Amino acid sequence: MIQFELSTDRQLFEDSFDFAQQQVRSLIGQHAGLYPMYTKNGKWKHDGPAWTHWCDGFLPGMMWLFHRHLGPGGPDADWWMDQAIAYTIPLEPRKMDREVHDLGFIFLSTYYRWYQVTKDPELNDVLVQAGETLAMRFKENGQYLRSFVAEDSLFIDIMMNVGIIFYAARETGDRMLRDVALRHALTTRRVLVRGDGSTAHEGIFDLESGEFLRQSTQQGYRGDSCWSRGLAWSLYGFSTCYEYSRDPRFLETAEACADYYITHSPADGVAPWDFNAPADSRRQVDTSAAAITASGLLRLCRLITDPLKGHLYWTTAVRILRSLCESHLGKGTEGWEGILRGGVYHIHKDLGVDESVMWGEYFFVEALESALRRLTP
Ligand code: GLY
Repeated sequence: MIQFELSTDRQLFEDSFDFAQQQVRSLIGQHAGLYPMYTKNGKWKHDGPAWTHWCDGFLPGMMWLFHRHLGPGGPDADWWMDQAIAYTIPLEPRKMDREVHDLGFIFLSTYYRWYQVTKDPELNDVLVQAGETLAMRFKENGQYLRSFVAEDSLFIDIMMNVGIIFYAARETGDRMLRDVALRHALTTRRVLVRGDGSTAHEGIFDLESGEFLRQSTQQGYRGDSCWSRGLAWSLYGFSTCYEYSRDPRFLETAEACADYYITHSPADGVAPWDFNAPADSRRQVDTSAAAITASGLLRLCRLITDPLKGHLYWTTAVRILRSLCESHLGKGTEGWEGILRGGVYHIHKDLGVDESVMWGEYFFVEALESALRRLTP
């Protein structure tokens, strides 16, 4: 029986991975050089606002994942690598970008993957610079990396980016960089992760004293609610933080977030956009939160030693992926250009609501690739 399910899942995931390749092929064939963020009525090209520019690594990031999955040397793998390089190179100037807190998203999905393939030291220099630039956002008063919206604002999303500072610290031996990453993660853990494992999206500080004032939100339902994508960023981000630091507090935090997600999600593992939104609004799922969670759980499985917990996280990740593949692919909808339907970008600004979103696509492909590696005998 277990054998049967494994091979069914493998086939389902392989078919979905193929579908993802088809959709990305078609996107870059139709709109060469476009780095879209979210669809409008299922179409990638439109003039909707970005709010902030944080997504450009995800399209080439998927190409690196296709290349990795196909293995070196095959014609398709070579083709994906050429495309990945062509879409990665234009991102290099962003290593100096001080307007966003998203340099981990942009560079860990691209230059990091490229460097893993070639080990060219110039690629590593780009990663190190990106980590150093991100670290400049650190506020001594308050001990956090400030978000893009304001000096006094800390976002849970930044936990997904702090990994590039750990990386730069490791590559250069710079202890001050490592210290910035550690202090940011400890502050986030203290002020944004609650006792029950749920998370707030944003924290607001007093700039003069550094005192933490309150939890708030930009994209969640409200300051004291749990925005599901923020929870997913936290689960994944604290897992990465533990990988670099081996500080058990970060592993505990990642597990607390995972346990909250698991105990508060419906049976199919696809969470509402905010766990505390009113019932009507909660009908809107965020498939990107589910995809990030699946990928984060697959990372967490590798880090924990308790086999029962490991089994729970693995089976949950597989269950989420199964639901996404069976019920949320763009496949069934004529003309839909994305891979996954049912993502949400910014519900209050009405941006990308019930659409495909580029980070959802990326983390879905990352999770599929990771699960397929383990399911392949
Ligand atoms: N800005 C990151 C997000 O929308 O999740």
